[in-house]
Amino acid sequence: MTTNLDPALDSLLLQARAAAQNSYSPYSGFKVGAALRLTSGEIVTGTNVENVSYGLTMCAERSALVRAVSEFGPGIRIAAIAVANLNIAASPPCGACRQMLAEFILPEAPVVFPAAERVLVMTFSELLPLAFDMN
Ligand code: THU
Repeated sequence: MTTNLDPALDSLLLQARAAAQNSYSPYSGFKVGAALRLTSGEIVTGTNVENVSYGLTMCAERSALVRAVSEFGPGIRIAAIAVANLNIAASPPCGACRQMLAEFILPEAPVVFPAAERVLVMTFSELLPLAFDMN
């Protein structure tokens, strides 16, 4: 156990941390990993991939999301997500990642991430209230 999270979320967090080992982050040195648990039970991970044209950088959360859709199709639903970094720093999902996740994640899905003092768990709808939606 790394935290006092429930064991399924703790395991997801460990997988996010493992994914961060593959980070390509020569510009920031900030190594991030994300792990998604789909409603089907599949786990999909991703890491941040930076670019010399800085704005093209892909965050870990979006890497995992794009990978999940690519592997399992457009009908996926995300039941939980964990984010970790290897820098002993806070890293809640950025705004762009929240909006991208909104398309596929259940509103009540737990989001686990390192905050200033400790790992926090919030539901997705707490993290992104009033997400843009055309419906
Ligand atoms: N990063 C993520 O992977 N996820 C986030 O939600 C925020 C930031 C990455 C992007 C960049 O490679 C590094 O962290 C520093 O911003």
